[in-house]
Amino acid sequence: MYYSKQQDVCLERVNMRRIVLLSFLLSLFVFCWVLDGRAKEEDFPVPRPPFSEGIFPCSNCHAGMEANTKRRELKEEHTNIQLKHGSVSRWCLDCHDATNRDMLKLASGEHIDFSHSYELCGQCHGPTYRDWKVGVHGKRIGYFDGGPRTYFLCVNCHNPHDPKFKPIKPEPPPFKPLYKYNPAARSGK
Ligand code: HEC
Ligand code: HEC
Ligand code: HEC
Ligand code: HEC
Repeated sequence: MYYSKQQDVCLERVNMRRIVLLSFLLSLFVFCWVLDGRAKEEDFPVPRPPFSEGIFPCSNCHAGMEANTKRRELKEEHTNIQLKHGSVSRWCLDCHDATNRDMLKLASGEHIDFSHSYELCGQCHGPTYRDWKVGVHGKRIGYFDGGPRTYFLCVNCHNPHDPKFKPIKPEPPPFKPLYKYNPAARSGK
């Protein structure tokens, strides 16, 4: 009798602890969820998208055009665009909207403005996007030098159609200052 009462109390304590732990985890989950939702709504101050002159709005030409969803080599227009970005599986209309060419398109089908292109990139480059948001990847200017805070867009640095940076030629190794050992070299003799 005595022992079982002890056990009861003990069990109750264990249950209590479980409840406390569970409710702690639950509130942590809700907290993170809310925080995540807020992060999604966040708008980043960015410069104007770096379009070539005269290309935007795209609807100037595309409004009256039928979208051609066929994967092909473009011959009449945009011939300067060579897709080198996971090109085996990707085509223009994965990122550009077929019906509204002035908007970008997420995988979910949601349309976004060109000033939000980082969301498009973030779909596939999650870790880089996370770094960009907190200022580890990319570049932010403003505040310290007085102006408003601005985040460079991914496309300010990466060409969305060919984003990989080309390797640059390494500089030659430094020369030994020859004249130190051979003073004649200094006067060019
Ligand atoms: C990975 C997504 C992606 C794919 C695939 C893609 N684009 Fe783009 N494209 C973009 C983004 C993002 C921009 C916006 C760049 C900016 O803000 O200036 C852009 C810009 C453009 C522009 C404006 C370029 C300029 O000179 O200002 C044209 C035209 C264009 N894309 C056509 C195409 C065509 C044609 C294809 C297929 C051959 C294609 N895109 C494939 C993401 C993509
Ligand atoms: C000067 C007119 C013109 C402008 C401006 C223009 N386009 Fe196009 N675009 C064309 C033509 C013409 C084609 C078809 C080219 C072909 O089939 O060889 C085309 C094809 C495309 C394609 C391939 C799919 C399809 O429907 O044929 C994409 C994607 C595209 N344009 C995106 C854009 C985007 C994004 C912009 C704005 C940033 C833009 N274009 C601005 C004329 C234009
Ligand atoms: C649908 C998924 C997808 C989207 C959207 C996407 N990428 Fe990519 N990206 C890839 C894949 C897959 C590769 C690797 C294959 C390749 O390089 O062709 C890649 C490669 C890259 C690289 C080269 C990485 C290296 O190895 O150096 C950069 C930089 C990059 N993407 C930037 C961007 C930017 C900027 C955007 C937005 C305009 C973007 N990506 C949108 C899938 C995506
Ligand atoms: C201020 C310029 C700048 C901005 C803005 C920028 N990047 Fe980069 N990114 C770079 C440089 C520089 C590299 C390194 C290239 C190398 O090492 O070859 C790089 C590398 C990458 C790589 C290759 C993998 C890695 O981490 O080394 C990916 C993917 C990438 N960037 C995606 C993005 C995306 C997505 C955005 C926007 C959310 C973005 N970048 C914004 C300059 C930038």
